[in-house]
Amino acid sequence: MGATVNVNGRVFDQEHAVISVFDHGFLYGEGVYETLRTYNGELFLLDRHIRRLRASASMLALTVPLTDGEIASRFQETMAAAAIGPGGPEAYLRILVTRGIGELTYDPAACPAPSIVVIAKPLEELPEEMYRRGVKVALVDIVRNHPGSVNPIIKSNNLLNNALGMQEAVRRGAFEGVMRNYRGELAECTTANLFVVRNGEALTPPIDAGLLAGITREFVLETGASVGIEVREAVLKDADLLEADEAFLTSTTREILPIVQVDDRAIGSGRPGLVTAALLAAYRNGARKSTVGMAGGVAAAAPSH
Ligand code: PDD
Repeated sequence: MGATVNVNGRVFDQEHAVISVFDHGFLYGEGVYETLRTYNGELFLLDRHIRRLRASASMLALTVPLTDGEIASRFQETMAAAAIGPGGPEAYLRILVTRGIGELTYDPAACPAPSIVVIAKPLEELPEEMYRRGVKVALVDIVRNHPGSVNPIIKSNNLLNNALGMQEAVRRGAFEGVMRNYRGELAECTTANLFVVRNGEALTPPIDAGLLAGITREFVLETGASVGIEVREAVLKDADLLEADEAFLTSTTREILPIVQVDDRAIGSGRPGLVTAALLAAYRNGARKSTVGMAGGVAAAAPSH
């Protein structure tokens, strides 16, 4: 099934959704985005995604010209047009806000209006087997952007740094690439945050290491304690990953995915560990609970007996 796309308020199927080649998102990668998913047909942590979208945009001196309510409506309209949402398959949603159309100059004044695109499609969840078996990552040579350059905290459409990291990972037969920062510390994966588990504690690099403040990462930091697992930030080096008891990556679409191999080296027992499994279960429970009872959520999806 294809995607349904809302371009500046008008809905198209994926073949007909187009944007001008003079849009500075296309010309210069000047724009920001968010990826969301639904649980029980309801957008998960929408408020946090909107907050991060605005924060990213402001770091590009870009204003998102919609209220929070209008952003939510645009998601709902696009999902409705795609016939996904409560009662149907879970949805993958992506919103992009770019500088808009203008002359070939970096001067923002050349672009009077941002472009806003929402992409909705059925969520393709990873097979459960990947959670049972875990994945291999590669420690890639591509260095994560220096925060004084294109700060990784900006969730921008300018994704060449991540794409180069992933290309290297793919060449090395890995599912993801772990990137170091300019100081040689571990930063994050190319499309996800990174955690290692040591002595029962889950550790993730601090924002200062130069990484995206992932919403899944934040959720894990906040909820770990509720299942008796200490989760905190710590500066991590290669050895912390290679000698970890367990490791996992986090993102909206992958949730909490165990890492069992780094290049040729097995992590811990080479199988997903108990701490990772407990956090994944807690995360999924939290996600499902926080969406149950939202308007049109589980009520629409529940069996009728
Ligand atoms: N990727 N780090 C990077 C570089 C990312 O691109 C992402 C998300 C994350 C995890 O963030 P969150 O937990 O908020 O999804 C970390 C999304 C899924 C994407 O690129 O589509």
